[in-house]
Amino acid sequence: MTLIAQISDLHVQAPGQLAYGIVDTNPLVAEAIAHLSKLNPQPDLVVASGDLAHHGTPAAYAMLATLLSPLQCPIYLMPGNHDQRDNLQQAFTTHTYLPKDTTHLSYGVEDYPIRMLMLDSITPQQGGGCVDAERLVWLEQQLLARPNTPTLLFMHHPPFATGIPWMDRKRVQGHQPLAELISQHPQVKRISCGHLHRTIYTDWAGTVASSQPSLVHQSAMDFAPNAPSQFALEPPAYQLHVWTQESLISHTVFVGQFDGPYRFADGKKVVPIDLYPLANAPSALTTAKTSWGSARWV
Ligand SMILES: [Fe+2]
Repeated sequence: MTLIAQISDLHVQAPGQLAYGIVDTNPLVAEAIAHLSKLNPQPDLVVASGDLAHHGTPAAYAMLATLLSPLQCPIYLMPGNHDQRDNLQQAFTTHTYLPKDTTHLSYGVEDYPIRMLMLDSITPQQGGGCVDAERLVWLEQQLLARPNTPTLLFMHHPPFATGIPWMDRKRVQGHQPLAELISQHPQVKRISCGHLHRTIYTDWAGTVASSQPSLVHQSAMDFAPNAPSQFALEPPAYQLHVWTQESLISHTVFVGQFDGPYRFADGKKVVPIDLYPLANAPSALTTAKTSWGSARWV
C-alpha cells in the first residue's frame, strides 16, 4: 500500500498578513500539518498541489518552509497561480526534484509503486491555467515512456468543467488537446488538482479527475448563473490517496476541533486519540448542539 497525502492551496503569508484581509492562513496550515503528523501510519509522501504562498514572496516561502518542517516524509511541491516560480525554487534548493532552467516546473516521481507526474499548469501573472504545446509534449513523452505503469497526474488547475459558472469561465486553456492525450493513455488512473478550493470529482477523458479542498478557505458553492466568485470559511481538509496495486482510493480528511469518536456499539466515547482533540470534552449528546467545525469557525 502506498499512502499519498495531498495538501492544496495553503496560501501561506508573510507573518502578520491575512489572505484577502480575512483569512489567517498560517495557523490553519500549522494545524493541518500537525494533524498530518499524527496519522498512523504516516503517509509515504506529501504532495502540495499549488498556491503554496498567497503572494509568492521570499518571506512567504520562508514561512512555508517553517510550517512544513514537522513533516518527516518526502514533500513534493508544485506551483499554483499565486506562486512565483523563481522565488519558490530559490527558497527550496534542497528539493532537487524541481527542474532547473526550464520554462515550467513539471516533473515525475518514480520512486513508488504508483508513478506520479506533476504537470505545471500556471501562466505567470494570471489566475487561469494553461497546458500549452510545450507542456503537452513533455507530458506525452512521459506517458509514452512508461505506458504500462499506473500513473497519478497532479495539476494545480483542473482541466474539467465543474457546473459552477464562475469557475468554468476560467477553465484551463488547452484542456481539449490534453483530454485527447489522456484518453490515449489508460495508465492514467486519476488526475488530481487544486485551485478550486472544493472537493469535486468527475469522469473526464477516460479517467477520473478531481479537485481537492484547501487547507485554509473554501470556494463558495453557488450554481447560479450570475454568482460571483466568493469564498467561505468551511472546514479545511486534505486528501489521502491509497494505492493498493489494484485501485486508487481517495479519502477526504477534515481538520478541526470535532467531537468524538463514539463507539457504534454503545454510543460511548472511545479512548481519546490524537486526531480528535475534543475527545475529552463532555458528550455532545448532552451538551449544546455543536455543529461540526463551529468551535473553530465562529
Ligand atoms: Fe488557491
